[in-house]
Amino acid sequence: MGLLHRRRRRGSAGPLLGLGYRAPSARGYARYFNDAAAAGSSSQQVLDYDQAVESLRYWNDLINKIDRPTARMMLSKIDRENLTGVDTKLKGVSTSKNSLYQFLFDVKVNHPTKVVLVRVGEFYETWGFDAVLLVEHCGLNPMGYRLPRAGCPRVNIQRTLDDLTAKGLRCVVCEEAPMPYSYGARSKRKTRFVAQVVTPHSPVYVYNLSGNHALSPDFNFQAPPVVGIEQRKPDAFTVSLMDVDLRQVTTYYDVNEEIAAHIVSNQGFSPPVYCHESYLDRAGPNGSSGLQGQRVRSIIQDSQKVRVKGSPFSEKFVEIVRKDLDLGPDASFTQSSAGGGGESRRPLPLYSMTARSIGLADRASGSPSGTPSLVASLLPKGAPAPCKHFFTRYLMHPPPPGVAGSVQRSLRRIAGVSEPLPLLPLLPAHKIAKMIHSREANHSVYVDLLAMLRGVRSIFESKALEEALYPLTAVAALSTGRRFKTSEIRDACDDVIAEIEGVVNTAEYEELMGALAEDEGEGAGEEADDDAIAVAAAAGSRARPGDQALESLLRSNEKSARVVLGSCIAGELEMLDAARARVMAAVRDQLELALKALSCPEEGWPGRSAPRISYDAVNNSVSVRGAQGAAKSRKGWADDFGLINPRDRNGSKLADRFSTEELEDALNDYRLRCHELDLAVKGALKALASRIQPFVTQVVYLSHLALVSKTFWLHATEAGRRGWSLPEIDSGEGGEKGQEGRTLVLDSFWPFWMDKSSPDTVENSLSMSKLVLLTGPNMAGKSTVIRSVCSASLLANCGLHAPCAPTSRVPYFDAYILRSAESADNPADGLSTFAVEMSDARAIVRDASADSLVFVDELCKGTEAKAGACIAAATLERLASHNGCLGLFATHLHDILELPIERSALELMRMETEPGDGEGGKWRRRATWKIGHGVCTESLAFQVAEKYGVPDEIVQRAYALSLGLEQANARSTEVEAAKINGTAGGQEEVVEPSEEEEQEEVLSFDRGVQVLAGLASEALGEDAEAIRLQRGAHPPPSAIGYSCVYVYRLSDDTYYVGETDNIAQRFSAHQSTRKSGLTDFAFVKLPKGGKSVGRLVETQAIRRMAGMGFDLISEADGMHSNFGVR
Ligand SMILES: Nc1ncnc2c1ncn2[C@@H]1O[C@H](COP(=O)(O)OP(=O)(O)OP(=O)(O)O)[C@@H](O)[C@H]1O
Ligand SMILES: [Mg+2]
Repeated sequence: MGLLHRRRRRGSAGPLLGLGYRAPSARGYARYFNDAAAAGSSSQQVLDYDQAVESLRYWNDLINKIDRPTARMMLSKIDRENLTGVDTKLKGVSTSKNSLYQFLFDVKVNHPTKVVLVRVGEFYETWGFDAVLLVEHCGLNPMGYRLPRAGCPRVNIQRTLDDLTAKGLRCVVCEEAPMPYSYGARSKRKTRFVAQVVTPHSPVYVYNLSGNHALSPDFNFQAPPVVGIEQRKPDAFTVSLMDVDLRQVTTYYDVNEEIAAHIVSNQGFSPPVYCHESYLDRAGPNGSSGLQGQRVRSIIQDSQKVRVKGSPFSEKFVEIVRKDLDLGPDASFTQSSAGGGGESRRPLPLYSMTARSIGLADRASGSPSGTPSLVASLLPKGAPAPCKHFFTRYLMHPPPPGVAGSVQRSLRRIAGVSEPLPLLPLLPAHKIAKMIHSREANHSVYVDLLAMLRGVRSIFESKALEEALYPLTAVAALSTGRRFKTSEIRDACDDVIAEIEGVVNTAEYEELMGALAEDEGEGAGEEADDDAIAVAAAAGSRARPGDQALESLLRSNEKSARVVLGSCIAGELEMLDAARARVMAAVRDQLELALKALSCPEEGWPGRSAPRISYDAVNNSVSVRGAQGAAKSRKGWADDFGLINPRDRNGSKLADRFSTEELEDALNDYRLRCHELDLAVKGALKALASRIQPFVTQVVYLSHLALVSKTFWLHATEAGRRGWSLPEIDSGEGGEKGQEGRTLVLDSFWPFWMDKSSPDTVENSLSMSKLVLLTGPNMAGKSTVIRSVCSASLLANCGLHAPCAPTSRVPYFDAYILRSAESADNPADGLSTFAVEMSDARAIVRDASADSLVFVDELCKGTEAKAGACIAAATLERLASHNGCLGLFATHLHDILELPIERSALELMRMETEPGDGEGGKWRRRATWKIGHGVCTESLAFQVAEKYGVPDEIVQRAYALSLGLEQANARSTEVEAAKINGTAGGQEEVVEPSEEEEQEEVLSFDRGVQVLAGLASEALGEDAEAIRLQRGAHPPPSAIGYSCVYVYRLSDDTYYVGETDNIAQRFSAHQSTRKSGLTDFAFVKLPKGGKSVGRLVETQAIRRMAGMGFDLISEADGMHSNFGVR
């Protein structure tokens, strides 16, 4: 290893400047320049002071986090002030002009924050900081302890790079320049060059793959994009995402911070971030929303940032990334813009909280929130991972209505197709693009590509398939930003297929792959070959002694001969044939004869293996080995047969081997011809890549089309199995805008993670044209309804099957916003639980339009109940009346129901309960998971507590406490009532029955009426009379126009207390909804005090009667709006 051979003394290191490492002192910085200058740095670019300091800080920060003891041991030899980390004072470090150190240093100057791996013979080596990181992250050990140095064998480079990029590190891989063919001479000083920059955004190292035909590089479908951010106004961000391999840039203009955060993290995020100065120079806003659980600044705050200057941003961004990733000036990127709404009417991307709540976690591994994976229920078990990834991306940013319509059309037709989907190998678009752009596509890539294209082509050969799948081109167009006609697709397929078929040999593919795989472990074959010969000889087989050696020689040299069609390399093959014939002749006529002349003594050659003709994989030659002993005992043998000692590849004589001048000459020629053949094959493949390159956009589009076709096809299959259907989607293009006339109808829907046929699954139906206030006990299915409605609407608007009846009708939504109850505090942003809730509320109110679908689950549960109810009520009122969105607002804060908010744009719905089958008593009711009109103020909290194992004493005690609380509340309400009526508040003693008395009391309807009338009298300060109504009766006209409180009993002995301004209408409504069930009804007219007294009496009556043990159904019809707590 020639890197570090001479010691060079330097002055002592700079002073310690804190920060846990030695920051570059002025002297250190001067040294940096001295090193560069003294060694005659060839580098064009020299870092300025700030960059140098920043880069050193970067490395030192990384080094300070090193954990692995072996890696820590290397730290004492690191020079923390040198950009490379190599301490040039260490013994053996040469900094001379052509030294490896100088090469490394030059690369570092151009790539100051990347790990540099340099090819040295059969290894990729690293030094200094880089070596420490390799030992830390790649499970490698240091190469000696003299100076920090580590490396990996040539064949492991991709694995090593994967380990580094997985940690967010970016790497530069440097190669030795190919040498002209030479044999028998010591290699000259190697020149090296930067072969490729490998980063998490483009993690596959492809250099020289065009010469390695067995290897099919493994491209991850999910490499994160390079992210660029500009902040033009405090809440207007421009986010550019660059797909490096696909050479595409998508820019989102003027999005708010939540959406920006979402876009940044949606496809995975890996540093650095390219930040425009408008972002860097602006201080972060305080108290921004955490709706999506994260904000741009908190996502990227610890990431390395690259400053972008000038405008337009997206172009400057591309310019700087292109340079940073060493992509060369001819790498052109297609720019497209995407934004929420706009002309395309594409809905906004989902907030990550929305996504998490409906089981759309980014990673296929499942969702952290505990909601089962939505994508897993869209596809059959074992569906290819790319299909799952595609669906995640597709749902995370729903398509515009036009595309959804096409998808639905296609899914309807797929259901009717009787043909199977042809074999469609999925080839990541990145892989094709990168391999073609880099001209490194090898045999296996072409073969895969060919299979994919033939698959797509066969779709367009079948009328039924074409009709079913063609609409999906709209989806391929959406992901690639390009659109092609059927004829263009056909032509592109045909052209590229013809190009590949004209060069690549696919006929013997299977056989070839087998042969190549067998040969993978080069060099290991030698001994095995010898054994085979020994076996053949012992068995007296007719195989000739040179056979195995020749076969090995041919196999390891002529691998590429069958990769391309013979016609492409005819000249080279002819030359090779001649050279091969000469080698074979020399082996047969000379070596075999000479070997034959050595007769083996009976006792053999003690301690030595028999003389044999063998192949030497290291020197790529064939010679006689193991014949020294025989040669000594048979004088003149070598001379008789013209044998010489051959030279190895570096020109040294090999005294233990015998060859002939002719053979050596023939081998030389043969090796040269093979080398030429390899070059010709590579050349043919590279030329093929160049001819295909103009079609890359089409090919990328076709690979999307293959992916999309397969994904939707599999989805249709799975949806059929699960009994899902395609709801009618209303794109709203007919001019129905806003809330007017927009109704979301979901018939017989069920949670997507449940099995329709299971008896435990409860189906629900819902028709919603306003914002719905949803109440219901714990565990009654509120959150489940929210998740189900959100996911079904999203699926429908993506054109997909949903778990509901086909009669469902889903209007277009411009955003899906789900704020779930799971929000916790966010210490990273210095936000308490309630602060997070409030910042969520702010974001929802700001972002929801009349076209949005909004779900709010348990807002304000993180604060005191009364204040919480008021804030929640005001937010609800605003969303309903001002934003005008559709959606569900679920709450346990029943005080909301008593607050005088504007209700015209609100609908009331509740989760229903039914009498349970327990032994009766206080917790008799249970949830049915059915949604219905009205409200429900039961909590079933004690029941749930009991069911989930809270000790019985606690539950009993809690219940007793609740009764006490209710009574106290009732008293204080009465005091309030007294105040309203101007009586001496609190003076009158309300006699409460003791608990024993209460138990004994007969709970009749009469008793209920008595309670109601008594409370009304108390509130009015005068006697109030209760009036009973028989079924079919009409209340007296004198009661009309007054507030009334009423009580009724159903045939199952449950009671209901309510309040109304229109007793006639209310009575008739209850008669018709209760049909046969309503047995008794009575009301009390409240001529004074109006509605507020009515509500007060109602609340008191409910509490009093509940306390007495009446079985109250705390529910009401849609007209009703006033409740107490049980
Ligand atoms: N449609 C349904 N079919 C079958 N089971 C259901 C259905 N809806 C809800 N459930 C069951 O009820 C459980 C509780 O539902 P969910 O979490 O939606 O209740 P909730 O009303 O939000 O309760 P809380 O107020 O405590 O948050 C679910 O986990 C599920 O097991
Ligand atoms: Mg819930």
